[in-house]
Amino acid sequence: MNDPAARVRIFDTSLRDGEQSPGCSMTAPQKLRFAHALAELGVDVIEAGFPASSEADMDAVRAIAREVRGATVATLARCHVGDIEACARALDGSVHPRIHVFISTSPLHREHKLGLTREQVLERAVMAVELAKRHVDDVEFSAEDALRTEPDFLAQVCIAAVRAGARTLNIPDTVGYTTPSEIRTLFEYLRASVVESGVAGANEAVFSAHCHNDLGLAVANSLAAIEGGARQVECTINGIGERAGNCALEELVMALRVRGEYYGAHTRIDTRRLVPTSRLLSRITGMAVQRNKAVVGQNAFAHESGIHQHGMLKHRGTYEIMRPEDVGWAQSQMVMGRHSGRAALSDRLQALGFTLPEAQLNAVFAGFKSLAEKKREVFDADLEALVLGADARA
Ligand code: KIV
Ligand code: ZN
Repeated sequence: MNDPAARVRIFDTSLRDGEQSPGCSMTAPQKLRFAHALAELGVDVIEAGFPASSEADMDAVRAIAREVRGATVATLARCHVGDIEACARALDGSVHPRIHVFISTSPLHREHKLGLTREQVLERAVMAVELAKRHVDDVEFSAEDALRTEPDFLAQVCIAAVRAGARTLNIPDTVGYTTPSEIRTLFEYLRASVVESGVAGANEAVFSAHCHNDLGLAVANSLAAIEGGARQVECTINGIGERAGNCALEELVMALRVRGEYYGAHTRIDTRRLVPTSRLLSRITGMAVQRNKAVVGQNAFAHESGIHQHGMLKHRGTYEIMRPEDVGWAQSQMVMGRHSGRAALSDRLQALGFTLPEAQLNAVFAGFKSLAEKKREVFDADLEALVLGADARA
């Protein structure tokens, strides 16, 4: 599992693809603060923004490039001279700058969005990679809407981008259209095509997955891309991003960690920082995480039903596949509600300092059940009142 070839680089695009989605915009100081948090989390690449899109983005990227250390700072550009030069200006001061150029390759986008032929798309891609390469050594190329592009043309574009100097080839599922088996096969095909082309740099080229979540498959598709040879995954904290969002960083990272033996791949993320980073993003954007969100949702380690609580009290592995402390929660939560049983009640009362004889426990349990019918959750203060009330009546 610690084979360096199987290290998956985490490219976080919360500040670019995430930030451009409704309800997620951030000011330049907020972006800077969050970029520091991403560096502490251990992401390999921070996509800081799209400098040509606004002055505010330019300012935010500039500040991040100057201040944030420990991660590559990437900026996005269309295959336009002005965009690429804006990226170069914004990245001035960065120790590890990356310019990320993209162009749509699918027939739908070529015809309806760009009005370009295949040949023109290819020419622009090569021009953009070559120009970016004059500014920075680290150039990433993305074929927008790759998953709806003819595979032979996509391979041709990838080979041309590597020949022009790109060392990361990103294959975005821009509209969240693909499925796990399809994307895995595509990555295998593209990798083989680039390597077989024999162009300089082909063997070092890193393939990257960038999956959107329109069908709820972004994480599954990113994992399948890793099986197909992807060694960079583009994702966002809390899965924020256009429409239904991007691949959720916390879910992907924990899937690789919990199922490390299956994927044979690892990241360098400090997983204990996942919950604090998720919370920071929610505070900054005001966008709450759903309760049942994997890993970082409030219910991710909460247990209410009697059967589950009983199992958890005997062995936490019965109903937990990862430890809450490993992702930044203090502990699992036994929620006392109408589904809870006597074992969990007794355990909670002991934690509150009450060891009750059988008869008194039965009385408190009866009181608890009737209260739980009226209230969604029974809190510690309610339990204390029940015990003290039973004492007073005795
Ligand atoms: O989804 C997408 O295609 C993108 C590219 C710009 C990388 O975000
Ligand atoms: Zn995207």
